[in-house]
Amino acid sequence: MYILIVVTFIIAACYGAPYKVKPFNSCGYEACNLGQPDKLNVHLVAHTHDDVGWLKTVDQYYYGARSDIQRASVQYILDSVIESLVQNPERRFIYVEIAFFWRWWNQQSQEIQDTVKQLVNDGRLEFISGGWCMNDEGATHYNSIIDQHTLGFQFLNDTFGECARPKIGWQIDPFGHSREVASLFAQMGFDGTFFGRVDYQDKDQRNKTKTMEMIWKASANLGQ
Ligand SMILES: *[C@@H]1O[C@H](CO)[C@@H](O)[C@H](O)[C@H]1NC(C)=O
Ligand SMILES: *[C@@H]1O[C@H](CO)[C@@H](O)[C@H](O)[C@H]1NC(C)=O
Ligand SMILES: [Zn+2]
Repeated sequence: MYILIVVTFIIAACYGAPYKVKPFNSCGYEACNLGQPDKLNVHLVAHTHDDVGWLKTVDQYYYGARSDIQRASVQYILDSVIESLVQNPERRFIYVEIAFFWRWWNQQSQEIQDTVKQLVNDGRLEFISGGWCMNDEGATHYNSIIDQHTLGFQFLNDTFGECARPKIGWQIDPFGHSREVASLFAQMGFDGTFFGRVDYQDKDQRNKTKTMEMIWKASANLGQ
């Protein structure tokens, strides 16, 4: 099993998005905005990074309490993003942490839930990673990594179906990256994974040699 790794601070691209009209009611890579046929088109999509507990508790992060510690309130991120997506069909957004999304979802009216389902089915609201949280890679046991992703994936599939299936691993804040997580992500069916932290010497070297993007053959046992 191998997985495409991109060391980056920026956002998932719509791979090789060719110039085409967005098919009605499509999601996934099909739902990218149009590019220009004679150019390399790079799509930068706004995304979340909502820590499921860091300086504040999970509740404080969700409701926005204790803004003296950190200004962060996840419920308002979701409220305003959904409103903004509805206002302009050209807009896209990526949501990541299902612990928060699940909580928000359960507090919405049927009408908002239907709107969100439509956004997901149109590929305008995309989920990546899709775990309950973004797990650490050094201190976690692999059972927990599998369990917490399973919980998130199950919610996404039960609630939205295929259009909510995350296609990309998103590890933009753990302090180091393990081979086993890369292997697990390949086995979860992700097309690639993005890192946000990497040793500065590794990063400089990759930048110099144009190897920011690579195939990581992460398992000796699973072929490739
Ligand atoms: C996702 O949901 C569909 C419809 O309920 C079901 O048929 C399918 O088995 C589910 N997939 C997984 C991986 O659970
Ligand atoms: C890569 O190197 C170039 C040239 O030195 C520099 O301008 C750029 O900021 C570097 N990019 C990253 C991501 O480090
Ligand atoms: Zn973080």
